[in-house]
Amino acid sequence: MAVERTFAMFKPGVLQRRIVGELISRMEKKGFNIVAIKLMRIPMEMAKIHYEEHREKSFFESLTNYIVSGPVIAMVLQRENAIATLRKICGATNPENAEMGTIRGDYAVSTERNIIHASDSPESAKREIGLFFKEEEIFPFEDGNEHWL
Ligand code: CMP
Repeated sequence: MAVERTFAMFKPGVLQRRIVGELISRMEKKGFNIVAIKLMRIPMEMAKIHYEEHREKSFFESLTNYIVSGPVIAMVLQRENAIATLRKICGATNPENAEMGTIRGDYAVSTERNIIHASDSPESAKREIGLFFKEEEIFPFEDGNEHWL
C-alpha cells in the first residue's frame, strides 16, 4: 500500500481539556509519523478557505467562529493508507454515531465541536496540507519500524 500524507487538526478545546498527549499517542501507536506540527490560532479568512465546501451550509458561520475561537494544533501525518486510516480512528463526524474506541466516540459530544478534523480524500489532504504548511515545514523521517509495524 502506498505511503500517504494526511492533514489533521485538533480543534479549539483540546488544549484546554489537556488531552493533546492522549490523542497524539493514539496516532503514534497506530503507526503515523508526525512529519509536521504547529500550534496556531487560525485567522478568519483561512478558516473560511479551509471550510470552503460548507460555505452554503446553515452551520458555516458558527463553525468558522468556533474554529477561530482558540488555538488549534495542525499536523501532517504520514503512513501507508494514511487518509482512510486516520478517518477510521477519528470515527463518524457526528460523535453520537462514532463507535466507542474512536477518538470522537471516546472524547466528543457535539458534531460541530467534534474535536478533530481529518482530510477526507487525497485532494482534500493536498489542499489542506498546502493551506497550513509550507513544504520546508514538513520533516519526513526514517523510523526503522517497518519490521515491527
Ligand atoms: P470536520 O471534519 O472538521 O469537517 C467539517 C465540519 O463541519 C465537521 O467536522 C463538523 O465539525 C462540522 N459539521 C458537519 N455537519 C454539521 C452539522 N450538521 N452541524 C454543525 N456542524 C457540522
